Amino acid sequence: MQLSWFLFITLLGFLSLFKLTFNLLKWVFITFIRPPKNLKNYGSWALITGATDGIGKAFAFQLAQKGLDLILVSRNLAKLKQVSNEITSVHPTTKIKVFDVDFSSDDVLARVKVMQEVIRDEKLDVGVLINNVGVTYPVARFFHEVDEEVWTKVVKVNVEGTSLVTKL
Ligand SMILES: NC(=O)c1ccc[n+]([C@@H]2O[C@H](COP(=O)([O-])OP(=O)(O)OC[C@H]3O[C@@H](n4cnc5c(N)ncnc54)[C@H](OP(=O)(O)O)[C@@H]3O)[C@@H](O)[C@H]2O)c1
Repeated sequence: MQLSWFLFITLLGFLSLFKLTFNLLKWVFITFIRPPKNLKNYGSWALITGATDGIGKAFAFQLAQKGLDLILVSRNLAKLKQVSNEITSVHPTTKIKVFDVDFSSDDVLARVKVMQEVIRDEKLDVGVLINNVGVTYPVARFFHEVDEEVWTKVVKVNVEGTSLVTKL
């Protein structure tokens, strides 16, 4: 009786130790050994919305560094061209296309369709989408305090705009 308890508890201890060791090795593999994904395997172009500032712009540089060609989308054509020049000055082989689309405007559907046609006609193989465009309130507010004009714009840009691009 005592022996079977001893064996049972030893087995439990062994299983716990095995699980712990397995998780440790898995962590070491994921953190230090596993090769990163080659994003170009998904397609040679990446499309980034909200690409002229902040996080979107940083993504554009990172993806260019990884060898992807870029489709940059934001409202302001001058800013888009400037960011495009900044990227090609560092990564001269990167091909870049820019599209000015204001996701809060009424003609957003038409503008997105133009982009869709160019992508289709020029057979741009888009494999990565960084659907980063987003706006928020100018100052922190509880939702019931936010003017309708402001929150409807947030929904239009952050929800409708990004959904349209995902569908595209
Ligand atoms: N930064 C943060 O701490 C933080 C935290 C949580 C979530 N986020 C989210 O992360 C995303 C990026 O944040 P960020 O801080 O990098 O933003 P950001 O610096 O304000 O940049 C926003 C980008 O979106 C573009 N944009 C703004 N309104 C647009 C519109 N109506 N149509 C088309 N493009 C528009 C801007 O370009 P143009 O002005 O040239 O059009 C710009 O390229 C956003 O979705 C944000 O909500 C950010």
